Amino acid sequence: MRAGVFDSGVGGLTVVKSILEEKLFDEIIYYGDTARVPYGPKDKNTIISYSLEALEFFKNFDIDMLIIACNSVSAYAIDELQKNTTIPVIGVIESGVLALKSSTDDKNSDILVIGTSATINSNLYDAHLRQLGYENIVSIPTPLFVPMVEEGIFDGALIEEAMKLYFKDVKKTDRVILGCTHFPLIENEISRFLNGTKTIHSGDAIVQLLKTRYDLKPVADTKISFFASSNPDNLKNVAKKWLNL
Ligand code: DGL
Repeated sequence: MRAGVFDSGVGGLTVVKSILEEKLFDEIIYYGDTARVPYGPKDKNTIISYSLEALEFFKNFDIDMLIIACNSVSAYAIDELQKNTTIPVIGVIESGVLALKSSTDDKNSDILVIGTSATINSNLYDAHLRQLGYENIVSIPTPLFVPMVEEGIFDGALIEEAMKLYFKDVKKTDRVILGCTHFPLIENEISRFLNGTKTIHSGDAIVQLLKTRYDLKPVADTKISFFASSNPDNLKNVAKKWLNL
């Protein structure tokens, strides 16, 4: 099986990491739209049109499945992408909601959802969770974490100040959904700041969904290629570091 993995930039590599650990695919083609990251502050139509361009890129590779390793794209462009291809297009919001459900059945849990402005404004996590009966959901856009992670800042004073700003009104949380694929890089910091709250991570969530929905046999090795719309060498270097390649 050959999977395409798409993100606006380097964040989707956190999803690749989870997929590689489980050895789910023979081959992964990763594409980061690094020329136009971040997608989070952009509007729905722009995110859809960038995503359709990415789909055209993947059409060169004969992939069996397209994994959207970006919550902002998953929030707005999954339906449009699916209309334009016959292969399955799988997003991280659906999988994140399912992962939350398997993490706690308690419908009174205090759930915090964080993500880019696009993801939070789409209200998708909130709507899906409420459909499942969860009632105590607080959603906060935390876009400053994206450029920090892109800069390789995973802890320290800047992260701390941003957390103080964003989480100042958060009283109690039982679960925090990391609704942006950049955030697993600062997962420990976020969890610590929120008194050890358990995190839901898009990468682990998508692995869970892939394993239950598709008949994927573990492979011996995964071949992986990286492409980016700008500065592909930088993306390759980050990938080498984060994925220990
Ligand atoms: N990694 C993207 C996501 O999951 C966010 C980064 C961006 O704003 O482009 O939403």
